[in-house]
Amino acid sequence: MSNTITLAPEKLENEESRPPLLFALPKGRLADQSLELLERAGLSGPVDLKSRKLVLPNGDNSIGYVMAKPWDVPTLVEYGAADVGICGLDVLRESGRRVHEPLRLPFGHCRLSVAGPKDRPDTPLRYASQPRIATKFPRLTQEFFRKRGVNAEVIGLSGSVELGPVLGLADLIVDLVETGTTLRANGLVEIRTILDVQAVLIVNRAAYQLKSEQIQGIIERVRAII
Ligand code: PRP
Repeated sequence: MSNTITLAPEKLENEESRPPLLFALPKGRLADQSLELLERAGLSGPVDLKSRKLVLPNGDNSIGYVMAKPWDVPTLVEYGAADVGICGLDVLRESGRRVHEPLRLPFGHCRLSVAGPKDRPDTPLRYASQPRIATKFPRLTQEFFRKRGVNAEVIGLSGSVELGPVLGLADLIVDLVETGTTLRANGLVEIRTILDVQAVLIVNRAAYQLKSEQIQGIIERVRAII
C-alpha cells in the first residue's frame, strides 16, 4: 500500500480564459475615483462590478480587474500576481514594495502627519524622552523619528488611531489628514507633515518589460487625461 499523496497541479477555474493583463484596483476610499479615471482614459473597466468574483474581466477580456484590499495592492503588484495597480502613496511607502511608479494620479490627496493633543503644547515630539506614537503606519513612523534621533515607542493600531491620545494610550499619533475634521473633533492638532499623499499607478517590474506595449498603452491613455 502506498502512502504517496499525489498533488497534481490542477488548473484553476477559468485560468485558461484569464485576461492577458491583470490590474489591481483598491476597494474602499479610492475605488470610485479609480474607476472614474479608467473611464475618462477610455479604458474598458470591469463589466460586472456587482459580481462577487474577485477577478472581473473588461468587455473584450483584454484586462482582468482584481478588486483588492488597498493594503494588498503593492504586494500583488510586486509579486506579479497583478501587472498594474492603483494605490495610495501612503500604503506603497509603508509597504516598502518595489514596483515601478510611472504616474501620480490626481486624486486621493491627503497627508501623513504627526498630531497630538492641542492642550498639551509641551508634548509635541517630546524629543527628550521616549514618546509613544499610535499609528497604522509603523514603518514610516519609526523611520521619521529615528532620523530625528528620537527613540519612539510605536504602537500599531488598525484604525481610529485618534483614540491613542484620547484614551491615554499614546502621546502622539501618525495618521492621514484630509480635511482635519477627525483631528479637530478629538481635540488634536497637526504638528508635522511626514508625507504628501496621492494615488499612484504602479507596475510590476518584469511586466513593465514583458508586457510593455499593453502597459505603455495604459500609461499613455491615463497620462493624457491628467
Ligand atoms: C482616515 C484617517 C483619519 C481620517 C482623516 O480614517 O485615518 O482618521 O480618515 O480624515 P479627515 O482629516 O478628513 O477627518 P478612515 O476614515 O480611513 O478610517 P480609519 O481611521 O478607521 O482607518
